[in-house]
Amino acid sequence: MTAAVPNLDFSAIKNAANIVEIVSETIQLKRVGKNYMGLCPFHTEKTPSFSVSPEKGLFYCFGCGEGGDVLTFLMLRDGIGFIEAARYLSRKYGVAMPERQLNPHQQRRLQARERQLALHRTATEYFSHTLEHPRLGKPARAYLKQRGITAETSQTFRLGYAPDGWDRLSRRLNSQGKALEPAIAAGLIMARNEGGGHYDRFRNRIIFPIVDVGGQVIGFGGRALDDAKPKYLNSPETLLFNKRRMLYGLPTARTPARQKGVVYLVEGFFDALALYQHGITNTLATMGTALSREHVGLLKGFAQRVNLVFDSDAAGIKAAQRSAGLFLDAHVEARVLVLPPGHDPDSFLFAEGPEKFQQAADKALGLVPFLMETAIERNGLEIEGKVRTVAEMKPILGAIRDRVARSVAIKTIAERLQIEENTLLDEVRGAMRPSLERSYSGRNGNSFARVPDQRPDPKSAAVDPGIRFERLIVAMMINYPLSLQDIKERNIIEHFKDRRLSQLARLIADESLSGVEPLMTRLEDPDILQLVASLMMDSQVPEKEQWDAATCSKLLDQYQLMLNRQGSDWVSRIKAAESSGDEELLAELTKQMLAEKQAQTQQPKLEK
Ligand code: GTP
Ligand code: MN
Repeated sequence: MTAAVPNLDFSAIKNAANIVEIVSETIQLKRVGKNYMGLCPFHTEKTPSFSVSPEKGLFYCFGCGEGGDVLTFLMLRDGIGFIEAARYLSRKYGVAMPERQLNPHQQRRLQARERQLALHRTATEYFSHTLEHPRLGKPARAYLKQRGITAETSQTFRLGYAPDGWDRLSRRLNSQGKALEPAIAAGLIMARNEGGGHYDRFRNRIIFPIVDVGGQVIGFGGRALDDAKPKYLNSPETLLFNKRRMLYGLPTARTPARQKGVVYLVEGFFDALALYQHGITNTLATMGTALSREHVGLLKGFAQRVNLVFDSDAAGIKAAQRSAGLFLDAHVEARVLVLPPGHDPDSFLFAEGPEKFQQAADKALGLVPFLMETAIERNGLEIEGKVRTVAEMKPILGAIRDRVARSVAIKTIAERLQIEENTLLDEVRGAMRPSLERSYSGRNGNSFARVPDQRPDPKSAAVDPGIRFERLIVAMMINYPLSLQDIKERNIIEHFKDRRLSQLARLIADESLSGVEPLMTRLEDPDILQLVASLMMDSQVPEKEQWDAATCSKLLDQYQLMLNRQGSDWVSRIKAAESSGDEELLAELTKQMLAEKQAQTQQPKLEK
């Protein structure tokens, strides 16, 4: 998700805002020491794990991992963009919207974004103008008509047409005296290999502008009018566009999804249009990528339940297998809606109408029951069938990181198959990714570590001591600027295993962004914001005052010592076992690794 942040500094507004007061508009908070606690508004819970620090201006939920500053809170709560959230605070606290300039690096970045956004506005206009053009737009209008798309839908989604021809867009930009760089950066035009000039990315395609929550066009999708390959073409990944984080249809789906608490998720642009046009406006679409953790996070901001719509059982099963863990971990209910053979949502709605679609939706099963029922259908309920079903469900259950969600799913399956819950539990343990196995830790309490490249499970006990170190080190970088020099000299960051931690560490190091406030001003990626909140609200991370030169070098010494000790390369051995499919070897290696780690690695301590 990209929030368009203009070239301005919002710290005055943030400083004026009382985060406790803002959060209290939504939930009841109780004072606990320096912080306030309450029931998290972003997931369902019975005991409070949502924590607010007035001093740091941050919130963090130890239950679901949402976190950030007061602007993040408003953006999540109200599903609004950054600017809207800032305006809300500006009005509430009577602080003018900012005028102060950011630093040169921030300015350059934001200017590049602004230029690209402006170019996207120009291009969107150009494409929609072309669609309306009496002569040029004719084939595209005929195509849309043939697919049943009304002019109203077309306008709502700001559809357009990139006409046939090699360089119409670049010539047009030229003729308007516009620079070509933003269009090149946006991937809309490409330099020719030979000779001079440029050619257009989108030619003879229906154009779907991809719009973020703030209403800005951040990329385009294009469908070929003829048999050209590929059938669909998107903007490349840019400063603004990342299809793993983005869903199509946000402007139209946002409000109805929030109102109904349900969002329909389809796989195609035209499917999204078809649902919308048949009155199912709470619809979003992925854009040719598998559903990602980020997508699920985005969906969670809109609704408690997601109805996944698939063309066929087979497609549904494949997608459900892949995404079950994501939804269960995020505490988002998902159901699988499968259409009759030969249909996709688009063709089904136009052939059968919305009532039939609604009937199919009413029959949709939850992810785990869906996977189980389709497996039972295939395998039967004889003993061998149950064994096969258990084998199929094992990796799915093993991929659920959240322990509560996992045990609920295990219970459901055990009951349906009439097998002992413990037996199934044992099976699943074997299937769990080694790094996710937590039983060895024996420590309880707040999360302090997470599996590399994955989101934290804040409720779980500490996992990997290496990552615990990484968290401590990044927290130190934020709280104790003098550590940056040492960290750079020792090349600490390049050893980091956790992608987000290393991203954050690099940003802090490269831009000398110590301190919570400058960092929060600079951050745009909600995941990284969340990470900062989780670090700064972690009771096991020392407070700002507790850091000094001795603590710093001690921590870095300990970390390097641990790196040196990690001689045997468990990860690659386990990966090899995993890909060879040797379950026994995998289980054995996992056990050995856990035993060794437990014996060998100490918890990072900070006493001097
Ligand atoms: P129509 O034929 O226009 O109805 O498309 P569809 O949505 O029924 O097609 P399909 O099921 O093949 O594709 C679903 C979605 O996957 C599309 O809307 C695209 O987002 C994506 N997709 C399909 N084909 C391609 C492709 O060739 N390249 C890319 N990048 N994405 C594709
Ligand atoms: Mn279709």
